[in-house]
Amino acid sequence: ATPSGPYDAVVIGGGPGGYVAAIKAAQLGLKTACIEKRGSLGGTCLNVGCIPSKAMLNNSHIYHQTKHDLQKRGIDGAHDFVRSFLTHSDGGMLQAKEQSVVGLTKGIEMLFKQNKVDYIKGAASFVSPTRIAVELNDGGSTEVEAKNIIIATGSEVAPFPGGAIEIDEQQIVSSTGALELQKVPEKMVVIGGGIIGLEMGSVWSRLGAEVTVVEFLGAIGGAGIDEEVAKQFQKILTKQGIKFKLNTKVLSADKQDGKVTIKTESAKGDKQESFDADVVLVAVGRRPYTEGLNLEAIGVEKDNKGRIVIDDQFNTSVKNIKCIGDVTFGPMLAHKAEEEGIAAVEYINAGHGHVNYNGIPSVVYTHPEVSWVGKTEQELKAAGVKYNVGKFPFAANSRAKTNQDAEGFVKFLSEKETDRILGVHIIGPNAGEMISEAVLAMEYGASSEDIARTTHAHPTLSEAFKEAAMAAYGKAIHF
Ligand code: FAD
Ligand code: NAI
Repeated sequence: ATPSGPYDAVVIGGGPGGYVAAIKAAQLGLKTACIEKRGSLGGTCLNVGCIPSKAMLNNSHIYHQTKHDLQKRGIDGAHDFVRSFLTHSDGGMLQAKEQSVVGLTKGIEMLFKQNKVDYIKGAASFVSPTRIAVELNDGGSTEVEAKNIIIATGSEVAPFPGGAIEIDEQQIVSSTGALELQKVPEKMVVIGGGIIGLEMGSVWSRLGAEVTVVEFLGAIGGAGIDEEVAKQFQKILTKQGIKFKLNTKVLSADKQDGKVTIKTESAKGDKQESFDADVVLVAVGRRPYTEGLNLEAIGVEKDNKGRIVIDDQFNTSVKNIKCIGDVTFGPMLAHKAEEEGIAAVEYINAGHGHVNYNGIPSVVYTHPEVSWVGKTEQELKAAGVKYNVGKFPFAANSRAKTNQDAEGFVKFLSEKETDRILGVHIIGPNAGEMISEAVLAMEYGASSEDIARTTHAHPTLSEAFKEAAMAAYGKAIHF
């Protein structure tokens, strides 16, 4: 249908930030449209990010367990029916992934219909601060008028600095190509030991590739990870067969005779090395995406990293244009974009909204999972804050032991004087679900004693969470 206007709110971008903002705006009674050029809703997260990567992580984990783990669990003969397949006439891992993506992106279309959000399929470009031209995906163009506009155009893969490595999405891939490989590479080199490198490296390692991660820094896990967790994480992944070259910078990757030759240099610059791979994954970060928006014409300001500049109420430098998600400041996470989407709409509707940036959890969906919220130990030290540490290993948790899945620990950091929880860091089974309890506790300003005195069901993994709180407040029982 031809879109109509004028709208109370138009959202540019249908990713987790944009689609959530659009639904919230419509729920609050604003006449709302969302413009998305991709051809499907859900943005990076649902189409080429969170969802397809978790499909591949979950299924490759099941494959790996079935192949390597079942006998020790007393389940015999199961390995006979395990096929390492990515594509198969009865379905395959890539198809399973595709099904989750299609199901969820179509689901958002349904939600748009239910909530009466107009979904405009096309690329948006500013004509004026209240007028947007849309190049429609089906051909032709249209214009929409809006009282309020929210920019939620997200991010894209950051190219390798200096253009030294060109991504072809076949042999030299970004995360997008790494989710599409049609066969398991013999040797895979991952450039960057951040979240994407470790998640996608895990997938292909479990499926049989020999994976080497090259990381410039001295630790893996990317920004915000606690150093002690990062060390343990690297040990566990090494045991799983992933190789690491830390303090090492990749200089170039050149294609030759079906292979890629990677040249590296030690971070100090004193040692050079070169080795081969079948596939190289470039995972050195993402950058804000504003191409084609014509921001210059209306004066929306960006900083030197290309991020759209906003104030603490999501306002850009142009009145009535707000901005949220990956394209502006803060961690590039789907749930952060969603929270901002709701808050920005609440500012439009009622003049106030709220996001607690100290309460945004991070999760790495490897096995075991790694999660955290709040401050790291190194941040507290640097800030001169006095704190207590409470740690509890999953090896002392009855359920983790029974599940034969007991690597890792829970670590509480609480303020020495008040016992208030300042940060929680988990490496272990189900860490991604467990961290929400820490987020909730911190939202309510809880102390570790509050958690220590809260009954946790037995036998559950979350008893390890309670016992780490007990250790921060006093002493754990089982360790
Ligand atoms: P995006 O999701 O990037 O959406 C922006 C949308 O705007 C896009 O669909 C784009 O097509 C559209 N657009 C851009 N310009 C225009 C225009 N001019 N007109 C119309 N439409 C336009 N985060 C997590 O929290 N958990 C995870 O597990 C996780 N896994 C990830 C795995 C991978 C491999 C990757 C790459 C990312 C992952 N992320 C994860 C990050 C997450 O995907 C992003 O933080 C999130 O998608 C940001 O949401 P957004 O709405 O700001 O932008
Ligand atoms: P990242 O910023 O997490 O990690 C990039 C890593 O590459 C850093 O450790 C950096 O030191 C290293 N690096 C940079 N240049 C290098 C070089 N020349 N040689 C060797 N190493 C180099 O970025 P990543 O992993 O690409 O992820 C991008 C974004 O996507 C992240 O901000 C993350 O928030 C988001 N994401 C989130 C996920 C989740 O929440 N589970 C999953 C995947 C992505």
